[in-house]
Amino acid sequence: MKTIDELLAEGVKGKRVFVRADLNVPFAKGTTTITDDGRIRAVQPTIAKLAEAGARVVVASHLGRPKGTGVEPEFSLAPAAARLGELLGADVAFATDTVGSSAKETVAALTDGQVAVIENLRFNAGETSKDDAERGAFADQLAELADVYVGDGFGAVHRKHASVFDLPARLPHVAGYLIATEVGVLKKLTDEVERPYVVVLGGAKVSDKLAVIDQLLGKADRILIGGGMAYTFLHAQGHEVGISLLQKDQVDVVKEYMKRAEDTGVELVLPVDVLVSSDFPDLKTKAPADFETVAADAIPETKEGLDIGPKTRELYASKIADAKTVFWNGPVGVFEHPDYAGGTTAIAQALVDSSAFTVVGGGDSAAAVRILGFDENAFGHISTGGGASLEYLEGKTLPGLAALEG
Ligand code: 3PG
Repeated sequence: MKTIDELLAEGVKGKRVFVRADLNVPFAKGTTTITDDGRIRAVQPTIAKLAEAGARVVVASHLGRPKGTGVEPEFSLAPAAARLGELLGADVAFATDTVGSSAKETVAALTDGQVAVIENLRFNAGETSKDDAERGAFADQLAELADVYVGDGFGAVHRKHASVFDLPARLPHVAGYLIATEVGVLKKLTDEVERPYVVVLGGAKVSDKLAVIDQLLGKADRILIGGGMAYTFLHAQGHEVGISLLQKDQVDVVKEYMKRAEDTGVELVLPVDVLVSSDFPDLKTKAPADFETVAADAIPETKEGLDIGPKTRELYASKIADAKTVFWNGPVGVFEHPDYAGGTTAIAQALVDSSAFTVVGGGDSAAAVRILGFDENAFGHISTGGGASLEYLEGKTLPGLAALEG
């Protein structure tokens, strides 16, 4: 994979450089207030370096999952572009379309060292199309905006999308600093892992994590399960889980994984106690929740589990304490509500306290550690890619990385 340093050494002054970033940041519900700007900060060094070197930088990204039928204001990249400008300490131009007259005029008006952001790529159906020709046609239009391509949207490299997969085939291309860092870290978790290797998996749905558990059963020494997915495991163990999240259709697969873990000596650890309530908490008002702590095998019929309990927090911290490598993906409770943030906070704290190489997988868990006020520098690495890092660990070929290799 050619690196951005090689591109800089060749010189980029006056060149139009297309940076495919992942500026898919979360907003506070119903507003354009960014609640976690981690992804913008993560790609800023690449953009800053290119601008310093005199490139005319065209930044592009997706945000959310709009329908692909034109502009939908709630998915506009304008707030992300404004935040990028603040971080760069420079004016960032903004095009109100992707390949239309605004984008063409904005890019044509760039001078050396200036940065522009074009509107959400997913406003154009060609970006995510399953049809190669439709995606290719959009990539052709994007290619007209630039002379060189820098792939640095790590969070989207698992998507076979026009700007991720088809565009690099049409322009000279290199990997940006963020992708180089992320891939370096993931290699450490796959090829060069130091043991004991402990994995903490949370999040709502077990179905999202099956493929990675399948791979990890042959790699990790311990897998600690939390979040909504834990209830499918508890059910597979023969426990009633009340009205907790349960994916009944996954119970057999989970049973098979539990058996495989036992046969291969992988410690698969489940919660021993949980916080339960008859109501899902109000995440907007954050009004105090009405909850109780119960043993994981005694969840009342009318209640749902919303966080791991204090005994489980202690148990998981002890399982992390002697690790040499820790990978964590997915919150272990409804951390957005203060009454159910204790479990996720305890996991983050255990990672901070450990001397292991710690990696927080992107998406919700990365946002969680920042929202809960942890110092990012206390972790070995906080990934910007949730799905992307999981698919890498699953051993899949990621289209956005393959395209940069070619
Ligand atoms: C993410 O949030 O994981 C990335 O930005 C990819 O977004 P997507 O799942 O909508 O493709």
